[in-house]
Amino acid sequence: MSNQEQPVIDLLVVDDAGERRVQVQLGETMLTSLQDANVAVGSVCGGNMSCGTCHIYVEADSVDFERVRSPEETALLEDSRHFRRGQSRLACQVEVTAALAAARIVVAPDE
Ligand code: FES
Repeated sequence: MSNQEQPVIDLLVVDDAGERRVQVQLGETMLTSLQDANVAVGSVCGGNMSCGTCHIYVEADSVDFERVRSPEETALLEDSRHFRRGQSRLACQVEVTAALAAARIVVAPDE
């Protein structure tokens, strides 16, 4: 691996096309990673945390979202009728870390 290559992890994702594994780069936002992998996730505001269309569920045992979500992110997500307190995130606000290799990322239904 050259110095310019970023480490990647396999991520289990689910969208309208079904469940599959995609390779994503550590350190990227989840939104960018999903879009680069052709996962069908919305991004009306372009990642500025104002639209809520990048809503995903992070299904993982080891993440305490009440501590990692900002109050602003939580407020936007709580407006969704698909909000899940323990799993909902905005993909534009999630950094891809190695811990997510054990997670299942599900694109939330449209509003
Ligand atoms: Fe709009 Fe994430 S892309 S809130």
